[in-house]
Amino acid sequence: MQPFVLESSAVRLEVPGAADVEAIVEACQDPVLQRFTTVPRPYAPADARFFLERIVDHGWATGREATWGLRGPGSSLLLGVVSVRMRTRDIGFWTTPAARGRGLMTAAVRLVADWALGDGGLDQLHWEGYVGNDASAAVARRTGFTYTGVGPGTQPDRDGGRPLCWKARLRPVDERFPKQGWPDLTGGAGEPPREWLRPADVDDSAPETPGTPRRPEDS
Ligand SMILES: CC(C)(COP(=O)(O)OP(=O)(O)OC[C@H]1O[C@@H](n2cnc3c(N)ncnc32)[C@H](O)[C@@H]1OP(=O)(O)O)[C@@H](O)C(=O)NCCC(=O)NCCS
Repeated sequence: MQPFVLESSAVRLEVPGAADVEAIVEACQDPVLQRFTTVPRPYAPADARFFLERIVDHGWATGREATWGLRGPGSSLLLGVVSVRMRTRDIGFWTTPAARGRGLMTAAVRLVADWALGDGGLDQLHWEGYVGNDASAAVARRTGFTYTGVGPGTQPDRDGGRPLCWKARLRPVDERFPKQGWPDLTGGAGEPPREWLRPADVDDSAPETPGTPRRPEDS
């Protein structure tokens, strides 16, 4: 696949490159990002270069993974990363702490989902986030994903475990507005209500090979 740009009035998504190393390294020091993703800890410039060469460039070249850097219109500053793994049909993302809460990732996920479920040829897109990651769930909810339940993550965490994840799914026919049935995303990290804890009914039939290292910028 050739990298391409996606853009709206709110965001510009284009392949990240060497000029973004510093911004990626700085973002990946954030404890929230470290808590809810499996980026290496500690995170050094070599990790960013590995990500750019082996995950981003290789992913585009092989068609296995499409990764974009999120920027504001007319700006070169990297504000986040969003990617889709084509085989497992899952979306992952993060924004820099300073860029959060402005609707940027919501706008980015809308663009990426429209591509993935359109020209990208996917029949569904999966999202999962660790239980308690309300901000990520809010993005998935706002962009029209249907909450499908909770279950072990499809990707190992840093210790090789499979922490409990909220899961959701978006299909091409789904309306892109918030659906009923999501947890009450209040921003608290308390116990989730019992009704959220039904087993996930997502199609996990194509998980990554156990033990496969996760991409550095994964979620
Ligand atoms: C998840 C993340 C990408 C969201 O990015 P963002 O640019 O802030 O997203 P948006 O501004 O588009 O939307 C944020 C939504 O989360 C809500 N939100 C933000 N912080 C929240 C919190 N602590 N609790 C509950 N909701 C929260 C916002 O209100 C908004 O929802 P709303 O529009 O329905 O009110 C960002 O918080 C992040 O990078 N987190 C760390 C990495 C991560 O968790 N990645 C996802 C792994 S699954």
